[in-house]
Amino acid sequence: MKKKTEKKQLNWCQKIAAHRGVSAHYPENTWAAFEAARQASVQWIETDVSMLQDETLIIFHDDRQGRTVSGDKLVAESLWADFADADAGVWKGPAFGGQPVPLLADLLVWGGQQGLRLNLEIKCHGSRQERTAQQLASVLQQTATDGIVVSSFDVYFLQILRQSMPDLRLASIHDEPVQMSKLLAETPAIEAVHLKHSLIRSPDDVAVFHDKGLDLRAWTVNDADRAVQLFDWGVDMVISDDPEQISSAAF
Ligand code: G3P
Ligand code: MG
Repeated sequence: MKKKTEKKQLNWCQKIAAHRGVSAHYPENTWAAFEAARQASVQWIETDVSMLQDETLIIFHDDRQGRTVSGDKLVAESLWADFADADAGVWKGPAFGGQPVPLLADLLVWGGQQGLRLNLEIKCHGSRQERTAQQLASVLQQTATDGIVVSSFDVYFLQILRQSMPDLRLASIHDEPVQMSKLLAETPAIEAVHLKHSLIRSPDDVAVFHDKGLDLRAWTVNDADRAVQLFDWGVDMVISDDPEQISSAAF
């Protein structure tokens, strides 16, 4: 019986990723959200990476300040000094006040120490793909990357990154229906497609990716019944703001 429980645990840990950490209950993309994922035994964390004007890589979703940190500067026009003292937690509630904006380099160290796997979604915010790829490669070349997947909506960024990191695990992200011929022609060798879950409407929509040797991971799934349906259809992973809620229903 114990063996079965362990097997179930292993299964859900591998198939549900924490979107921006456990962002349903903690401020997204902060240590609090990542630590909650670790404590919940989540194996994969999806998180957003943005590059500042001074080329510091930070854990941050938006293209400007204002929603999760105070201020109104564009990320692409900001220095680390503009973010170093920012409070990225208080917007979610006073209990989370004082959460800093993490540096990618620090998250990589922590993830390695904790044995966590990271899905690094790179936000190019519409420009600077070359420099972002170069900076990311220089950071990743200093760490073990077997537990890291780099994902992006930006195919050009993935193409450039692939040139300097031929063995890195890559995935392309889509919020519109995928044209398979275009994907295969333009996208450098990827292991998976990360697809907006509402675009998956049948098992055939999953099989089309598996037939090409690609995993299909669905975001952002916060309804447990929908997660069960996606797993039944063969989806390889769901990315959720609330992994524990999904796991208790799905496994
Ligand atoms: O990585 C998938 C998903 O996070 C993409 O959308 O806006 O939540 O970063 P967003
Ligand atoms: Mg993301």
